This record gives sequence, structure tokens and C-alpha cells, in this order.
Amino acid sequence: MSLEDLKNKIKKDPWRLNFHVMPETGWLNDPNGAIQFDGVYHIYYQYVPDNPLGGATSWGHMTSKDMVHFKQEPIFMSPDQAFDVDGVYSGSGIEKDEKLHFFYTGNVKQPGDYDYIYSGREQNVVHVVSPDGFEIERREVVIPHEEFPEGYSDHIRDPKLLEKDGMYYMVLGARTEDNLGSILVYTSEDLENWNYHGTLIDGKEEEGYMWECPDFFELKDESILILSPQGILPERYKFNNPHVAGYLIGEADWAQVKINPTTDFHEFDRGFDFYAPHTFEDDQGRRIMWSWMGIGDTMPEYTNPTIARGWQHALTLPRELILENGQLYQRPLEEYKKLRKNEQTKSFGEAEGFAGEVYELMLKFETSAPFELKLRQDTELIYADEMLTLKHGKSGYGRRKRQTPIGEIRNIQIFVDTSSMEIFVNDGEYVLTTRVYPEPGEDTIALQTSAKGAITYWALD
Ligand code: FRU
Repeated sequence: MSLEDLKNKIKKDPWRLNFHVMPETGWLNDPNGAIQFDGVYHIYYQYVPDNPLGGATSWGHMTSKDMVHFKQEPIFMSPDQAFDVDGVYSGSGIEKDEKLHFFYTGNVKQPGDYDYIYSGREQNVVHVVSPDGFEIERREVVIPHEEFPEGYSDHIRDPKLLEKDGMYYMVLGARTEDNLGSILVYTSEDLENWNYHGTLIDGKEEEGYMWECPDFFELKDESILILSPQGILPERYKFNNPHVAGYLIGEADWAQVKINPTTDFHEFDRGFDFYAPHTFEDDQGRRIMWSWMGIGDTMPEYTNPTIARGWQHALTLPRELILENGQLYQRPLEEYKKLRKNEQTKSFGEAEGFAGEVYELMLKFETSAPFELKLRQDTELIYADEMLTLKHGKSGYGRRKRQTPIGEIRNIQIFVDTSSMEIFVNDGEYVLTTRVYPEPGEDTIALQTSAKGAITYWALD
């Protein structure tokens, strides 16, 4: 089947999402290069159009004027250069002198004696100059593989840029020869010439063997470092996915270019599908985060049923990050209120008759008490004994449950988009993100609780 035919067939899949970024065909993973330029939001993503199981990635591209409606754009970059033949890997964008500059990792696998961990790969930092986010003026290696410092494996990738007081800082995720995570820093005054500046922070043994997709920025005078570590072992209710994503808050020492964390590593999400988050600041000064709504595909007990239909994965909703009470809260962007229609509010005791496959719910609790909320088919959100449980049945395709201890629940906001659920608890203090594959028509929403409060339902258009 041609890609065009496959695209048309996939369009009819009832598990396609209505208001999320997803691949037209094939595979999607990390969000890349997010930026607002000349009033237009650009989001790029790791993309393999002809294989739903992945492969050598391109940068797919969508644009939006309002952050709610996205337009599909042609592929921005394919792995067609000697320095990126095996993947135009993850990276980021920054504006300078009215042009866009992107930095990404050009991945090259060497044939022959291939040891996945230590050797057999080149990871080049590539600089791309674009007048508009669509055309490419220049695409060249600025930090070749051979110039990386000693003491590291071949895993050094995912450049993210930050500008501060006229200096550009590039952070890269790395794996040392001793299998520890680390963040390398390069500095530049012009985005062309880069100097190695040492490490921003070095991982310890229990902190994973590789740190992917770092993101370093300031929010309310604090420095934040986002990481996607591989190899953190599960702790009872935390770190239950194969790889996790989270952040540290700290004080930056800009003379040494170090971050001294003042918090522990805080996991972003308590669901099944969240990895490789990527942020940017928009013209309103909001710190907005997108994330790959995936990673669950690497769980042995799970088979994603959309693979057989020729596509896999999506991005989360873009969420605003707010620093409050020493942690990051995630809030769906205000703009998404535009999609609301058919508003209905009922008290918890009368919450009957709601149904939908694409909807938003807002629960406001006046008293905290156990509850059971059925969302679609056999997915439930259950709260009892100060434990929030997200439970899937058959439509979880192998995923079962995730539990999060929460002392008191004041409110819950939920976005359901056919085969995705994003659950924001207590104004985004806790978030649970999951894909799920209910049968079409399985759309009953049911709440059982002795708690007092009100529930509002909106269909989302
Ligand atoms: C994270 C990641 C990145 C890499 C990209 C390749 O999911 O492994 O480290 O750049 O995906 O697609």
C-alpha cells in the first residue's frame, strides 16, 4: 500500500485523536524544536513515516496559530546527510537575529563491530539555520563526535539551548563509561563556535545509566533541569515505567555553569505514557511543555493495537508549567477551553447520564471521600484510603494499574481524546497520562461517591 493510501485508511481509525499531535502514518516519539516565531507556533517531532515500530527518524512538523488547531506541514528534515543517516535525532530551537536556529543530534551507526552501549555510533551536534521554520539555509556539524570529552560512552545527545545575558548554553544528555547519567555543557557567543564547559551535574548510581533529553531553564528565579533518565529502578509507587521523566529544582552557579539541586528528582507523571518532555517559552512568557505520550511500548506485557493499523504514538497536550510550593504544576493551556461545548454541571449525587469519547471533566470536591469514576469501557479512577488508582481492563492492552498516594483531593480535570487520557489532580500537582483503546461506543461516564461536590462535563470539538 502506498503511504498516501495508508494515510487515508488510518484517517478512519476510531482511535485517531482529535486534538493531539500524532503521526499521519508510522511512528512518532519525542517532541523537538518547539518555538513561537512571528506569531506561529512550531512543533517538530521524531517521526518515521513508513514504519509504526520506528527506525531512522526525521523531524515531522506541525504549526498552529492558537495552540489548539494544528496544521500538518511537510517533513522538516530527513536522515539524508552523511552525519545523520541513521536518524535526525532529538533537539531544540532558538531565535537569533530574526532567524531560527535548530540543534539536533545526527545519529550514525557504524557497521561491523557494533556494541550498542560503548561504541559503534557517532552522535554529531548539527546546527540548522532557517529563515522561517520551513526552509533550511544551512545544516552543518558544529560539534563532531570525535570532539566529545574523554570518559563518555557513545551516548551523548539531545542538545537543548538556553540564552542568558548574551551567552548561549547548550546542554547534552550523556552516559559515562561507568554507566552514569551526566549533562555536558557547551557555551557559545554566536551559536557557531562552541566550547566545552564541563558538566552541569553528574548522576549517581541509583539515578540511572543514561540521561536523555535534558532541558535547562529558569522559572521565577529558580533553575530547573528536566531529565529523561534510563534505568532508574522502580520504587513502590514511583518510577514504574521502563524509563521515567522528571525534574530537579536548584540554584545555578553561572560562573561555573553548575546546578546545585535543592530538591530530589521529581517524577512528572504517574500514568503509563510520558517521556522525553520538551519545553519552550512563548511570547506571553509561559513555559510550555510537550511530551511524548509513549514509552509504554517498551513494556513487555503491552502491545499497542494501533501498530497493526499502521501508526503509533502521539504527543501529550501542551501544558503550562507553574512553579508553586517548591514543585512544578502542570496545567492544560487556557486555550483548550475553546473546544468546550454542551456544558453540563451536576452535583456528585446526581452525576448520571454523562457519556462521551472526546470530552473534558472537571470535578470539584467540597469534601474528600472515596470515589470510583468510570471513564471509558473498563478504565477507572478509584480513590480510597488516600490512594489514587488508575485501573485499566481489557482496553489497556496489557497495562493494569498505577497507584499514587494523595492525602486529599480537591479537584480533578480530565481530558479524554478517543484513545488518550490526561488526568490533572489538585490543579496539576499530580498528573496521570495514559493511552487506552476502548471499543467505539463504549462511552459511559459514571461516578460513585459519598463525597460532596460538583462535576462538569464538556464535549470537546
Ligand atoms: C528519547 C530518544 C532520544 C533520541 C531520540 C531518538 O526518546 O532516545 O535520546 O534523540 O529518542 O529518536
